[in-house]
This record gives sequence, structure tokens and C-alpha cells, in this order.
Amino acid sequence: MVSGPLTEEQLLNMLDRSRLPKHVAVIMDGNGRWARDRGLPRISGHRAGIEATRRVIEDCRSLGIKILTLFAFSVENWKRPKSEVSALMDLLKKYLRGETHKLIENDIRFKAIGRINGLSDSVQKEITMATQRTKNGKEMMLNVALNYSGRIEIIDAINKIIGDVQGGRLERDKITEEVFSRYLYTESLPDPDLLIRTSGEERISNFLLWQTAYAEFFVTSVYWPDFRRYHLLEALVDYQKRKRRFGGL
Ligand code: IPE
Ligand code: IPE
Ligand code: MG
Repeated sequence: MVSGPLTEEQLLNMLDRSRLPKHVAVIMDGNGRWARDRGLPRISGHRAGIEATRRVIEDCRSLGIKILTLFAFSVENWKRPKSEVSALMDLLKKYLRGETHKLIENDIRFKAIGRINGLSDSVQKEITMATQRTKNGKEMMLNVALNYSGRIEIIDAINKIIGDVQGGRLERDKITEEVFSRYLYTESLPDPDLLIRTSGEERISNFLLWQTAYAEFFVTSVYWPDFRRYHLLEALVDYQKRKRRFGGL
């Protein structure tokens, strides 16, 4: 018998719906290389990346993933040429303005995580609108990491903790892992179970440093704009084959 790659239908049949990861995080990488391979400007890759983002949200929602966290723009990404950064910000604004109604229809709650006040006023305005308009979403939580750095997130948490200790709202000997977690941008959300990175890079790039302590990694060589439901299913099926030990046996 010749066995080739599995079909989407086979993957879907292999998936155990009762053991889905609760929280999936994605480092959406490879837009620039996708464009380069086609002789297109990098921004075309980002535009195509938006389509992949739309798809992954829909697919996670229909499969029943409860929390999806997407890395969209890092603090380090400001190092890129001004023209690329402003094109990315424009795409983000357009996305939020154009897609919020779909999030509402699908009962999805949107939240931006990162140093949001470091973004332009016009981007902040769209974020506030989308957050406000989707606040009753119950079926899925969509976190989008913007101006995000895992290290800065930890520093921001420490500063909030210091403020609460000094203000008498928190006792200094009550700072456990659980308490600390609640001061992160992800607040009371459970940690990601599965972290997917596209474009073949095997690094964390300062994403969710605290929260990924025991996340399962899945790296695919596919560039983000080429990411389809098929690849999501591959990641989920692979995840379900693993034994998570959390240091135990
Ligand atoms: C990911 O694609 C999107 C962002 C980081 C905003 P890249 O733009 O990093 O694409 P590559 O890695 O250069 O191919
Ligand atoms: C990580 O991708 C950030 C996002 C996906 C938004 P990068 O392309 O910025 O990461 P490095 O530079 O390859 O580590
Ligand atoms: Mg990249």
C-alpha cells in the first residue's frame, strides 16, 4: 500500500473533538518571504497574511477552540522600515473596521494584548471599538498581540504588582504563580496548550514567555499566507499524539 500525505478529511477524522487544546497560540510568520518568492513587495505578503488570519479564526471557531492568541506585531517589529510599519498599521485598522461585525456574528470576543498605549491614536481607536463591540462574545476569545513583547509584559506585570503592594491592595507574601499570571496581559486565561509557528523558524521571538512554559510547539515550514485549515488540523492531530508530562511521569 502506498501511503502519501494524509488528506484533510482523514485528518479531520483523526481529530478527537473531546481533547482539543483549549488555548492555541500562533506566531504568524513568513509573509515577507511569501511575497519575495513571488517577486512581490513585502506588503503584498502582509495583505495575503490577513486572509490567512481570517481563515484561522473561522477554522478555530468552527472546530471549537475556545481561545486563540495571534502574534501580529512585536515591539521589535518597529525596527522595520517606516513604510512597512505604516502599511501594517493600515492593514490592521482596515481589518478591525471591516471584520468586527463578523466577530460579533460568530460570538467571538476580541482583545488586544501588548503595550496598546504605544500604538497610534487611530489604531487605539479601532482597538477600543472592536473590544467594546465584541465584549459579549462567548464562544471564542481572540487575543491579538500588538506592540507585544513577552519581556515587557513581565515588567509591566511587576510594576502593577508593586503599585498594588504599595497601595495596600496586595500583600507581598501572597505573590504566587497564579497571582502573577493574573497581572499579565492574558489575565485569567489559561496558558496556551499548543503554540504554532509558521515559516519554519524554531524560536519564540519574545512571544508569551511566561505563558508558554509548558506549551506544545508545532513548527510548520508553510509561510503564513499559505496556512490553511489543513495545516491547522495537522497541528491539532500532532498535538493529540503527544504525552504532556509537566515534569511528572
Ligand atoms: C510575519 O511575517 C508578520 C509580521 C512579523 C508582522 P514577516 O513580515 O516576519 O515575514 P518574513 O519572516 O520576513 O518572511
Ligand atoms: C515574530 O516574527 C513576530 C510576529 C509574528 C508578529 P518576526 O518575523 O518578527 O520574528 P523574528 O525576527 O524572525 O524572530
Ligand atoms: Mg518574520
